[in-house]
Amino acid sequence: GVKIVTIGGGSSYTPELVEGFIKRYDELPVRELWLVDIEAGREKLEIVGNLAKRMVEKAGLPIEVHLTLDRREALKDADFVTTQFRVGLLEARAKDERIPLKYNVIGQETNGPGGLFKGLRTIPVILEICKDIEELCPEAWLVNFTNPAGMVTEAVLRYSNIKKVVGLCNVPIGMRMGIAKSLEVEPERVQVNFAGLNHMVFGLDTFLDGKSVQEQVIEAMANPENEMTMKNISGLSWEPDFIRGLGVIPCGYHRYYYKTDEMLKEELEKAETEGTRAEVVQRLETELFELYKDPALDIKPPQLEKRGGAYYSDAACSLINSIYNDKRDIQPVNTRNNGAIASIPNDSAVEVNSVITKDGPKPIAVGDLPVAVRGLVQQIKSFERVAAEAAVTGDYNTALLAMTINPLVPSDKVGKQILDEMLEAHKEHLPQF
Ligand code: NAD
Ligand code: G6P
Ligand code: MN
Repeated sequence: GVKIVTIGGGSSYTPELVEGFIKRYDELPVRELWLVDIEAGREKLEIVGNLAKRMVEKAGLPIEVHLTLDRREALKDADFVTTQFRVGLLEARAKDERIPLKYNVIGQETNGPGGLFKGLRTIPVILEICKDIEELCPEAWLVNFTNPAGMVTEAVLRYSNIKKVVGLCNVPIGMRMGIAKSLEVEPERVQVNFAGLNHMVFGLDTFLDGKSVQEQVIEAMANPENEMTMKNISGLSWEPDFIRGLGVIPCGYHRYYYKTDEMLKEELEKAETEGTRAEVVQRLETELFELYKDPALDIKPPQLEKRGGAYYSDAACSLINSIYNDKRDIQPVNTRNNGAIASIPNDSAVEVNSVITKDGPKPIAVGDLPVAVRGLVQQIKSFERVAAEAAVTGDYNTALLAMTINPLVPSDKVGKQILDEMLEAHKEHLPQF
């Protein structure tokens, strides 16, 4: 049987993961699921863990669910380690979102200064986890969801000895579902050639039953009636002629780069009214955990779909299933480029369609990205690399460099002001600085 360890097990998304393993049990016989959290997450772990146990029991499957605060105990002989933790919890995310706004800069979980600081807090922890994996389960695959997932994958590839790492995101699934909806067909009939970086991924071409329908999809994207976004990103409509000119399909997060002013205005308004996304999610989470506590509940409640990460477990469970069974199907994942995207270094992490084998993802070569998007993708990759270096070294100048080269930060002076305020606000979770 398979042993899975989930770090950040108290996450409200965990029931989705459990549902995914239950659905696939015939092909992927999970015998042990270890949910790991920290003291601050003890109560959440307890509530979510008990729901997980009820779900498994209802399904009548011999999956043992273990709850623990002892990561090392859990990791022993694991086959797959999934990571979905949030250093500093939602309180830290709210600061990532609010502080930049004071300087009229986008405040977002994975983009701009917020993404930088989530990386600075997260990377030291993931590298500690990598050391534990090396020692306690050296054959295991690390399947990372923890954001910023692209930067985290880059850091693992560069600064740890772990080679068996895959970064995952639900954005490509969301795009495929959105495209299928706009074409009024079942998602299974739609294939998208994804390439780029995490939260910076493009659909280079789209196929319906094997035939390219890219032009139709571009028209659907250009149509303001199709929102084409995730629950956590405002669905401001695209300038139709811009989308036609672009010719590739942007992801929801591209709005921060191509519609910076409008997105900023939207965020400033929301911060004043309903609160930033972290604050909205805090309320949603309270609601979800109230439901989870109900001993009569033994399924994943539909309210979970209000979270931006809805359906992420499909990505995790399909990936694990395909590695375990050497399925050789195609999935978009964050992996070592190995030449798949010509203008990105071979040793960097990219998000690209890959053939999933027992030896992991084999990225499918796409050649170069269209010239119009190539530069932005390279710039974000440079940002991720410099940010990862800052996270590892704790060097102030490197952190300021990462901040300033981010396209959402207007100048070195503003960058320094934001950096200083955020370093102070987050110092409890930034021991390296
Ligand atoms: P959350 O706030 O519920 O955090 C999950 C758990 O992590 C909490 O119970 C917390 O106590 C725990 N935790 C914090 N530090 C830890 C540590 N050092 N070790 C172990 N556990 C720790 O978060 P969430 O909203 O469920 O999201 C979890 C993570 O997954 C975030 O980083 C989020 O950005 C990411 N996420 C990514 C995707 C994706 O597309 N890749 C989708 C959804 C969520
Ligand atoms: C999307 C992204 C995730 C992100 C999530 C935020 O799904 O792919 O990487 O974590 O949205 O959702 P939330 O409900 O926490 O705002
Ligand atoms: Mn994501």
